[in-house]
Amino acid sequence: AKNCPNIRVCVVDLNAKQIEAWNSDDLPIYEPGLKEVVESCRGKNLFFSTSIDEEIALADIVFISVNTPTKTQGIGAGRAANIKNCELCARTIAKVATSNKIVVEKSTVPVRTADAVRRVLACNDKGLTFQVLSNPEFLAEGTAIDDLEKPSRVLIGGEETPGGQAAIAKLVSVYANWVPSEQIITTNLWSSELSKLVANAFLAQRVSSINSISALCESTGADVSEISRAIGSDPRIGNRFLQSSVGFGGSCFQKDILNLVYLCETFGLDECAEYWHQVIKMNDYQKSRFTKKMVSRMFNTATGKKIAILGFAFKKDTGDTRETASAFVCRDLMQERARLHVYDPQVKREQMMIEFDYTLGVNKATEPDLDKLVVTETDVYEACEGAHAIAVLTEWDEFKTLDYERIYKGMSKPAFVFDGRNIVDIKKLRDIGFEVYAIGKPWPKE
Ligand code: UGA
Repeated sequence: AKNCPNIRVCVVDLNAKQIEAWNSDDLPIYEPGLKEVVESCRGKNLFFSTSIDEEIALADIVFISVNTPTKTQGIGAGRAANIKNCELCARTIAKVATSNKIVVEKSTVPVRTADAVRRVLACNDKGLTFQVLSNPEFLAEGTAIDDLEKPSRVLIGGEETPGGQAAIAKLVSVYANWVPSEQIITTNLWSSELSKLVANAFLAQRVSSINSISALCESTGADVSEISRAIGSDPRIGNRFLQSSVGFGGSCFQKDILNLVYLCETFGLDECAEYWHQVIKMNDYQKSRFTKKMVSRMFNTATGKKIAILGFAFKKDTGDTRETASAFVCRDLMQERARLHVYDPQVKREQMMIEFDYTLGVNKATEPDLDKLVVTETDVYEACEGAHAIAVLTEWDEFKTLDYERIYKGMSKPAFVFDGRNIVDIKKLRDIGFEVYAIGKPWPKE
């Protein structure tokens, strides 16, 4: 909408509460720069509405941008993506359309979903023709606006027929309003769909690869940050996405890799499935390894100890908590009966509780002491007051510049810092008196 003032963009959703929020001053998600963009276009060429049928009828191009969560039941449970919502969109479009349209798959989907969408659309009884394109999204949360303004590439897949090529050209012309043409890649439908899963699998693989090395560093005295720098300066390897952490989270990596694993299994490619599954297993190992290390460093018991959890979002600059490593660490510490005081600048308690319940099945029924074991703080210094340990689980910039002298004074001694994101100044904190453990860093001799 911002870059194409001549195009009318309307976002429709069944959820009236969401649409209402998008039309208010309090947008439903936090993303740096998003509010400014929405405010500059809303009411001019950007609209949010629940009038789904009317807006579909008006549109030349319809983007299907619905969620495709991992199935929890039935065939492929725990791995396959549920494309139910994509199919429902296609059925609605087929029902309410009164003219030919281009339907763009924006959601992340298993390869060949476009075939299902196309066949559902073809069943309309009005003789309409629809072209289906795949146009996966590569933006990352926290940097969404920048990624959209200056994408590394735009990928558009379509049918290799004259109609398919014409549809591709039309969508290319929309992006050409702000994206240089050499960055717009066109492919067939299946390459485009599969590229999305493969891109996320490769990115997650880099994190799991460096995390596997972090464990080796801790055992050998090597320093994982030095290794990242040393290997990342080889342009064939590159320096991005080599930041060792307590484990990757977010709504995409795990889901998309499981989706890829399931695809491989479906085609009988068990070795390929196992290869990619290992990326997830390494991530699970990293999360549980971190908690185990915390407990063992705190004299093998966390029972009754107050632990300040700094950060709950799956990365900085977002309030998104889906699959966040922080929730896994909190769950494991809860099982040790530690008392957690959680602070995150963008995550409210209600959201934390939803995450515990949805991803980990932890709620007041399964954990009657939940409210005692997890306290949500709005002041980071309160969270640390009297704590035995601090665990940094999201790399928020503000955690780098806290008044650690003040925090140290208020804590129980010995005061531990467990840095799951490698953002604290280890030397400075050790000079203050903290015992600092950071991922993949040498631990001083006892
Ligand atoms: C990811 C991809 O980066 C996007 O390109 C893609 O479009 C998106 O998924 C999607 O499929 O929608 P996102 O999940 O928003 O984006 O966030 P990332 O920046 O990729 O981070 C994922 C996780 O990896 C975070 O928990 C992050 O902290 C962790 N990470 C990332 C590391 O632990 N180390 C790194 O070096 C980089």
